[in-house]
Amino acid sequence: MKKGIILYQSKYGATEKYARWLQEETGFDIIKTKDADISSLLEYDAIILGGGVYASGIAGLSFLKRNITKLNDKKIAVFCVGASPYDENAIDQIRKLHFKDQLSAIPLYYCRGAWYEEKMTFPDRTLCRILQKSVAKQDPDTYEPWQKALMCAVGQSCDWTDRAYLTDLLAYVKSA
Ligand SMILES: Cc1cc2nc3c(=O)[nH]c(=O)nc-3n(C[C@H](O)[C@H](O)[C@H](O)COP(=O)(O)O)c2cc1C
Repeated sequence: MKKGIILYQSKYGATEKYARWLQEETGFDIIKTKDADISSLLEYDAIILGGGVYASGIAGLSFLKRNITKLNDKKIAVFCVGASPYDENAIDQIRKLHFKDQLSAIPLYYCRGAWYEEKMTFPDRTLCRILQKSVAKQDPDTYEPWQKALMCAVGQSCDWTDRAYLTDLLAYVKSA
């Protein structure tokens, strides 16, 4: 397999868990995205970047956006980790939002993460409560997948992490 590295940004641990599973499966190096330096990435053939989904943004993706022109010859894949169940349309929406121009050819994979209200920072918990209150005013039949997950998770601790979410990403990384 190629020489590769996994970059990850995780606030509550689910993305880190997936990154470490990927490391076990691939033997790639691993580093937090915030500690990555573009010049040290040039020695790798493959780069996997993973980030938690927070209010539809992917943590750490800006690193790739900033540096994509220097990574032309690399095999790159991104995985994002959210609370919503797997949903093709929701992933397409995230793709459309964040994978424009030079990022458009990069494959995006989705892994379901976790929800630990008791671990959340005060601002995150406040934001989630505001979101839950506003979603609660809608008809439940009209909920988007992330809204359903948000409402199910009220006051709960949930861990949906599962190695099986990495199957397609691993197949892509291991392909020539
Ligand atoms: C402030 C906040 C916003 C979030 N927004 C979303 C979202 O838009 N879509 C989603 O699927 N999950 C959302 N989540 C759930 C996280 O994506 C989930 O907890 C995931 O496991 C985070 O990754 P981490 O555990 O690596 O930090 C949000 C969580 C927080 C705290």
